[in-house]
Amino acid sequence: MQVTSVFQSQAEADRLAVQSLLLSDMETPFLRSFFQNQKNLCVLDIGCHSGEKSVARFGDPTVSHVLGLELEPEVARLAEARFGDQRFHFCDCDVEREDFEPWLRGQMQALGIRSFDLINLSFVLLFLCEPETLLKRLLPFLSPEGKILITETDDSTAFLEPDGERLRDFLARLREDPYAGTRSVGKRLPEMLRRCGYRAELLCSALRAEAWETERKKQLIAMFFSYFPEDAALLCAHFPEEERYREWLSWTRTEYPLLLEQILSPASTLSMGMAVYVCSRQKV
Ligand SMILES: C[S@@+](CC[C@H](N)C(=O)[O-])C[C@H]1O[C@@H](n2cnc3c(N)ncnc32)[C@H](O)[C@@H]1O
Repeated sequence: MQVTSVFQSQAEADRLAVQSLLLSDMETPFLRSFFQNQKNLCVLDIGCHSGEKSVARFGDPTVSHVLGLELEPEVARLAEARFGDQRFHFCDCDVEREDFEPWLRGQMQALGIRSFDLINLSFVLLFLCEPETLLKRLLPFLSPEGKILITETDDSTAFLEPDGERLRDFLARLREDPYAGTRSVGKRLPEMLRRCGYRAELLCSALRAEAWETERKKQLIAMFFSYFPEDAALLCAHFPEEERYREWLSWTRTEYPLLLEQILSPASTLSMGMAVYVCSRQKV
């Protein structure tokens, strides 16, 4: 089964656009201050998908090179065809490949990049077998004052009020969904970062919609919930003998619409846990 193939769909591209909008409130001020009074910055965007967000986030004139790495060769090719130029470079790479470090050094040498001032890891660590290994491997590639921006979810702090039972049922299924990644990574990040030699500053811990914020609730549904019915249908098709996935599919037809109704009710507040960190080298 190709777990990562879920990243190739148009629905996933649309979801990433909504996600980008929701995160921009927090990312934009950070990036604005990071770019201020700088020049010739080099950025590494890991798990860059089709490149739109790399261009939108890192198109600032202070940035001279953006190297985007993407697991899916077809998606990386599309990114390079659409956005590749003197500044933006996209290639396919599994960042868990054994020879990642020499491979990356080769790419950097070809592009004239000595180190990265910013490394972006947005919703990628949760899809890796060994996220901590990548964090350790990246440290030597960071410039002395360089930063890593990490964005992950943290379902352990999510809540729906006044009645959170259906949200908890949803999150329990999501934890077992092989397409949804390891959703506990966000919670484990502070410890992981410390062990890998980073100092981490928390930038955002939740995306929240107040009771009256219907449009924002719809965006949160698109970002955090909308893929589950697609996943359940795909998993049922791939594993027709799996009782658990048949139960999920039936849940998406009965309870899931009620969960969405509950979220959109003017009586409910929704908060989805996030773990957004700006990381720099620990000072010795
Ligand atoms: C949820 S998407 C996030 C895309 C983008 N970073 C964003 O925040 O919009 C995760 C991306 O990471 C890529 N990815 C997953 N595992 C990877 C790996 N081992 N190496 C490189 N990219 C990977 C996926 O193919 C996908 O494009």
